Amino acid sequence: MSIYTGYLAIHNFESELERELELKGLKIAKKCDRLYLVEGDHPQMIWAQMTAFELETIAIASINDGAKKLKALGRNWGLFTVAHHRRAQLIQDELPKFNNKPIPFRHPLPTSPMGFWTLLEPDQMIASTKTTSPFALGEMDFQENKTMPPSRAYLKLWEFFTVYAPEAITGGASIDVGSCPGGWTWVLRTLEFDKVISVDKAPIEERIMDLGRIEFKQESAFGLDPKDFGEIDWFCSDIICYPERLLNLVKRFLESSKVKNFVCTIKYQSEVDWENTLKFLEIPNSRIVHLHHNKHEVTWFLKGANS
Ligand SMILES: C[S@@+](CC[C@H](N)C(=O)[O-])C[C@H]1O[C@@H](n2cnc3c(N)ncnc32)[C@H](O)[C@@H]1O
Repeated sequence: MSIYTGYLAIHNFESELERELELKGLKIAKKCDRLYLVEGDHPQMIWAQMTAFELETIAIASINDGAKKLKALGRNWGLFTVAHHRRAQLIQDELPKFNNKPIPFRHPLPTSPMGFWTLLEPDQMIASTKTTSPFALGEMDFQENKTMPPSRAYLKLWEFFTVYAPEAITGGASIDVGSCPGGWTWVLRTLEFDKVISVDKAPIEERIMDLGRIEFKQESAFGLDPKDFGEIDWFCSDIICYPERLLNLVKRFLESSKVKNFVCTIKYQSEVDWENTLKFLEIPNSRIVHLHHNKHEVTWFLKGANS
């Protein structure tokens, strides 16, 4: 029986995942709704909201038998139904409940593994306890702040600093380019940076400026010269621009050796610019992820650039 790697595409971004699989030379063995199965063991994909490794095909005789077999493999299971929805849900209802509530910013992530399963036929399921997220189907939600952030873009940076950079921040400077109306600047201001440099052609909201310890520069980020800055702990960009322009800006700051860490949104127009996306990945030790809070964009990051 084949072992599969399962890729759950992000709703509305199925074609991005298909293209990514094609670029990596991976052949789709089976497609069920947004779930793509590839035979064998393969790495995670940027455009999959969850990747499930070593998916096994399991025969089941009844609802009870299905639940028993899943419980024997692991405790927490996220169900993605592709068919036989009611039967699948009845099996899921027999599994242990887990906490799937929205979490606060920088809350420690659940430590128990989160499995992934689906019912392909009434008597056949596929399941894996090895997945890329501790949240069911890779969907994480926050207890949102409805009063302070001037835009919902802050949720991307919340997710990034909760999942990928949870380490304590103790002083130093951060820079936020493409910062208007001020959501990311607000997030950086709530972290323990001594200073947040905020750059946009348009001003950020007054009430964010009033928080203090923010130096605002009203100018194009592409004209910034690293020579004019001291050491920067985090370089953050959410600028709307062509990926190539962002790449050149990042390289300029990287070459200056003044920046320790980067987190940047790479935004796309109608098509993913794979050529420049792959150039970002040529920067050693960097990664690209599609955050749960990203839209038609991805997040490139590099930690410890000068170490
Ligand atoms: C998606 S918005 C950023 C939202 C922001 N991160 C927040 O949390 O509120 C993109 C921003 O990029 C800015 N932008 C576009 N071109 C720019 C440039 N050349 N220099 C600086 N900012 C630029 C736009 O003015 C816009 O405010």
